[in-house]
Amino acid sequence: MNHPKREKFVMGNWKMNGSQETIHALLTHIKSILIPNNERQQKHIVVFPAFVHLAKTAWMLRQTCLEWGGQNVSAYERGAYTGEISAEMLKDVDCRYVLVGHSERRQYFNETNSIIARKIFASVKAGIRPVLCVGETREDYEAKKTKEKVWAQLDPVLKCENVYPFLSSLMIAYEPVWAIGSGLTASPQHAQDVHKFIREIFADISDSLAGQIPIIYGGSVTAKNIAQIFAMPDIDGCLVGGASLRGEEFQAICHAMLAEPLYG
Ligand code: PGA
Repeated sequence: MNHPKREKFVMGNWKMNGSQETIHALLTHIKSILIPNNERQQKHIVVFPAFVHLAKTAWMLRQTCLEWGGQNVSAYERGAYTGEISAEMLKDVDCRYVLVGHSERRQYFNETNSIIARKIFASVKAGIRPVLCVGETREDYEAKKTKEKVWAQLDPVLKCENVYPFLSSLMIAYEPVWAIGSGLTASPQHAQDVHKFIREIFADISDSLAGQIPIIYGGSVTAKNIAQIFAMPDIDGCLVGGASLRGEEFQAICHAMLAEPLYG
């Protein structure tokens, strides 16, 4: 189900890592990556630093072709919610994207589908594009329940009345939980099958939506395995954790995406 104008992405999730010094060094390393002018609508490189490093990132990446986003966002708009960061605040430091429903948020911070739906609504209202993360656990995978689990994470959120009108600004990251940070990557065929399944869920809503929605893969992506992942027709990019903290390796992953044909 290739779409002539589907965007491609490399996204780097830095998680709870880095100091002023190491983030400065990493940004200095990657800010020279160039996306040709005529490809900037279609190809995107995005980093997700910790909140305290966002202002520095915005400053250092201004006037480059790299973009940045938040790793999380509050479901609330503003006010007495100590410790929360609102979508408007992310917008204020020029975030274009936000990760929502990452498995670490679901697992350690009890994020449910209804909280995730509220976070998506808060983000799109502020003009930020949510990257909704879904994926099965090892037990689900072994029990051959991957599609069932992915459906259970997607269907209630997509059908939520606050989210439904904004589906065209959403993107999806499929990240098998057992592949995150483990060095075990899903086989390209497994990832392709699940991406195709996710696209079919969108096709039930609208064919054009299914054709245009970017679906990216995450889980132990490295410079070594990225080519096989990009070779899959329904995979539009990657969400990279560990390898995105290594400047040279992240650059190599970005170059693999930049070498992809613009359309197709
Ligand atoms: P990983 O993390 O690349 O270190 O497996 C991916 C993610 O959690 O987004």
